[in-house]
Amino acid sequence: MKKRTTKLRLGVLASGGGTNLQSIIDACANNSIDAQIVRVICNNPGAGALQRAERAGIPICCIDHRDYTDRGKFDAAIIAQLQQDAVELVVLAGFMRIVGTDFIQAFPQRIMNIHPALLPAFTGLQVQKKALESGARFSGCTVHFIDDGVDTGPIIIQAVVPILADDTLESLCARILVQEHRIYPLAIQLFAAGALKIEGQRVIIDPSWAGTEQLKESALLNPPVPQQA
Ligand code: GRF
Repeated sequence: MKKRTTKLRLGVLASGGGTNLQSIIDACANNSIDAQIVRVICNNPGAGALQRAERAGIPICCIDHRDYTDRGKFDAAIIAQLQQDAVELVVLAGFMRIVGTDFIQAFPQRIMNIHPALLPAFTGLQVQKKALESGARFSGCTVHFIDDGVDTGPIIIQAVVPILADDTLESLCARILVQEHRIYPLAIQLFAAGALKIEGQRVIIDPSWAGTEQLKESALLNPPVPQQA
């Protein structure tokens, strides 16, 4: 792992309310991650993420995919802006567009995405609903690197949450979102610290990253072992 001399330059892409963006803004502000957001780009002029970025004094722009005849031209406009801002890591935070090959080649192994399910299970959209209806006892969220598939890139970090008997879609989404806001800043700090190495489909975490020992013994059961009366 390396001690950075400059803060990692982040470019965040969002399409919606931006609560994941907010968790990253807050983590930069309280120095729990060694990074700074130098640009927020939204493809939707009404995205709440734009207001959050403006409130935090972060440069913003709206690049609306509907203004472009094809994805290649749309991606090219975003790539040009991110390169102009000398972005080192691209963070997709609820960005509801698939990025193309040119984009991936412009930022090799430097594009992350957050997904509200435990990949590789439940890819695509409405994944919290799919997990709830599947009868699974656990779900969660995943931060992964982007590759040329959809939700298929090497996994960096995951959080597991129980699916409870009385869960509704809303209660499950809310429980997962809380964990999203924890793991995305952690994934960015792992990158900033140089603790990530991609080997094929796997991400190898630097063994000196704290806490790995305790993990070995941990296991979650749902339903849990009944408490002795
Ligand atoms: C999150 O659940 C994220 O996992 C998914 O889209 C949602 C975006 O939420 N890709 P927000 O805009 O960050 O609040």
